[in-house]
Amino acid sequence: MIPIARPILGEDEVAAVREVLASGMLAQGPKVEAFEKAFAKDLGRKHAIAVTNGTAALHVALLAHGIGPGQEVVIPPLTFFATASTVLLCGAKPVFVDIDRSSYNMDPTKLASVITRKTAAVMPVHLYGQTAEMDPILAAARDRGIPVIEDAAQAAGAEYHGKKAGNLGDTACFSFYATKNMTTGEGGMIVTDDDRIAEKARLFRHHGQPAKYEHILVGFNYRMTDIMAAIGLAQLAKLDGWVKQRRANARALSKGLDGIEGLVPPSEGNWMVHSYYQYIVRREEPFPRSREEIVQDLTEDGIGCRPSYPMPLYKQKALRDLKIRGRCPVADEVIPGLFELPVHPGVGPAEVERIVAAVEELARTD
Ligand SMILES: Cc1ncc(COP(=O)(O)O)c(C=O)c1O
Repeated sequence: MIPIARPILGEDEVAAVREVLASGMLAQGPKVEAFEKAFAKDLGRKHAIAVTNGTAALHVALLAHGIGPGQEVVIPPLTFFATASTVLLCGAKPVFVDIDRSSYNMDPTKLASVITRKTAAVMPVHLYGQTAEMDPILAAARDRGIPVIEDAAQAAGAEYHGKKAGNLGDTACFSFYATKNMTTGEGGMIVTDDDRIAEKARLFRHHGQPAKYEHILVGFNYRMTDIMAAIGLAQLAKLDGWVKQRRANARALSKGLDGIEGLVPPSEGNWMVHSYYQYIVRREEPFPRSREEIVQDLTEDGIGCRPSYPMPLYKQKALRDLKIRGRCPVADEVIPGLFELPVHPGVGPAEVERIVAAVEELARTD
């Protein structure tokens, strides 16, 4: 079986965890501080605040930006649920802007049409490991004095015009879930250059405590452990190399799939470095198998393959029940054709060949 994702954990991570266990300091401590410093430095950001997961990172970042009831946050509809749920958890309303047909990211040309007097933030997602088209998004938001929060959960190691994902908007959030380009098992990080936002984020993470048993706002326990941070430090040192391997695999897959009628490999803007968290192919007519048949046949062949997100978020029951609506015709049209193939660094040239051969076989009509 070629799995769809596989974390790479080796001796470095084992040694790092062993050291923390031997120290007896398991909760947030010196390793978290070191991980935050290293992560901020890697991105060129002033502050990094480590939290329990990417959802907590989004929640805290939104709260730190003052997002609350009566306000709207603009997000794309093709993303993981947490992009919308964290807006709702703040008491605000997610407003959907359609996606671009080739990058699957927020379409900046449609952004102005959904911005209202209530818009308090724009939150583009760097989907599948490629950044959103940030320059026009930032221009549209900054013209109106609206902050931009990057959902960079999937984009560790990606770049845009020579700058790293996470260093493009006012604040950015990462996830270190087990399948991500770098992992701490679960885990998340908020990054910003704004001292005030960083201070608020630290307070929300830690029950609003600037000092022990002094609570100046109602926050959470969203603290990362030193065990997670030690793994994160070991992983961060290897991130760039892994992204190179993901990109080499993506190039080889795209070369193999190029020219198969009815399959559209992922596109990469020439000012982007796609970090290929996921390698997403779009099935179109006249491909002779349905997306569901492709997924089933490849899985039976021992090739990890799965559909991407099943529907735009506004069609999920949780949002329908809350009367959160959206109208994004491009998302509606492309989502049913999207499926994912393995691209992680555990995939080698022989596996790429096997994947391409299996897809070619599905494309045969004789
Ligand atoms: C785009 C996006 N946002 C947010 C999250 C939430 O991150 P986590 O699973 O670490 O809570 C994810 C996680 O998969 C994600 O893909």
